Amino acid sequence: MDTNKINKIYLQDIEKCYGDKRVLDNIDLSVSTGELCALVGPSGCGKSTLLRLILGQEPPTKGNIIIEGSPVSFPDHNRGIIFQKYSLFPHLSVLENVLLGKRLSSGRWWLPWPKNNEWLDEAMAYLEQVRLSDAINKFPYELSGGMQQRVAIAQALIMKPPVLLMDEPFGALDPDTREDLQLFLLDLWETEKLTIFFITHDLEEACFVGSRLLVLSQYYSDDRGESYNVNRGGKIVADYQLESVVSSTEIKQNTNFKDFISTVREEGFEPRVRQHVRDFNLHHPDSFQTLTAEENRVHN
Ligand SMILES: Nc1ncnc2c1ncn2[C@@H]1O[C@H](COP(=O)(O)OP(=O)(O)O)[C@@H](O)[C@H]1O
Ligand SMILES: [Mg+2]
Repeated sequence: MDTNKINKIYLQDIEKCYGDKRVLDNIDLSVSTGELCALVGPSGCGKSTLLRLILGQEPPTKGNIIIEGSPVSFPDHNRGIIFQKYSLFPHLSVLENVLLGKRLSSGRWWLPWPKNNEWLDEAMAYLEQVRLSDAINKFPYELSGGMQQRVAIAQALIMKPPVLLMDEPFGALDPDTREDLQLFLLDLWETEKLTIFFITHDLEEACFVGSRLLVLSQYYSDDRGESYNVNRGGKIVADYQLESVVSSTEIKQNTNFKDFISTVREEGFEPRVRQHVRDFNLHHPDSFQTLTAEENRVHN
């Protein structure tokens, strides 16, 4: 890894515990500008926790998190975040929902909604990008799930976040809409040159949308041994550079694609298969690993 490069996201030796439970264990992660980083892992491995740390919603128990060269200390609207649901305010129109962040961050939130100004032009431009120019006066309940998530994307993008953080954003959508939005996201990522951190528990989705695939898992072994008092948390057990942009979902039927998914499933999702920390598949050029003396006794 090139340590002189300023990365969008940089984490070293990050640990997160809730009481006695260690959820994230010595996480090392560096994400470059322009990457569409897909993070996949079994339920409960700590994906959402990692996202909350990057967002600054919670502090790590150990280690520092650096976004664009600055340490993270509090939540920042500049890191746009999109959840599976609930990011839209039901009593606001599509346009008002998109303008909301601007209003709140300006300190002039009590003023009437703007009728004609810079923000409005910007909001309209983002709504056009997410193909919702015709729905600006609708309310969230009048929209399909896919449209609601596109509003949420415009709502985040208007704040020009250095990183767009997405936690299972398409998880509540039906399979066809989900696939449409996967393609939509890829298109947007490519044209807008965004840096995206995309969390999903759906392996096929992660392999399809990612330019990089990170696998977070609690299923692995190290030199701390297997006794019950080893309090092991999620770790990045695989890290791949993926084929650059796909424009069709046909690849999902491809044998190599399916084989790759099986490999990743075994590496991260199979409790009986536990790779040793020294044997992780960390192929991505930005990947790095700092093992503690306990994790890696042989070499210390
Ligand atoms: N605020 C919290 N307090 C205690 N335990 C938590 C808290 N948040 C998450 N956890 C625990 O941390 C683990 C990882 O949770 P989470 O990050 O939500 O996993 P994922 O998103 O991968 O499904 C789970 O065992 C969960 O119960
Ligand atoms: Mg989660």
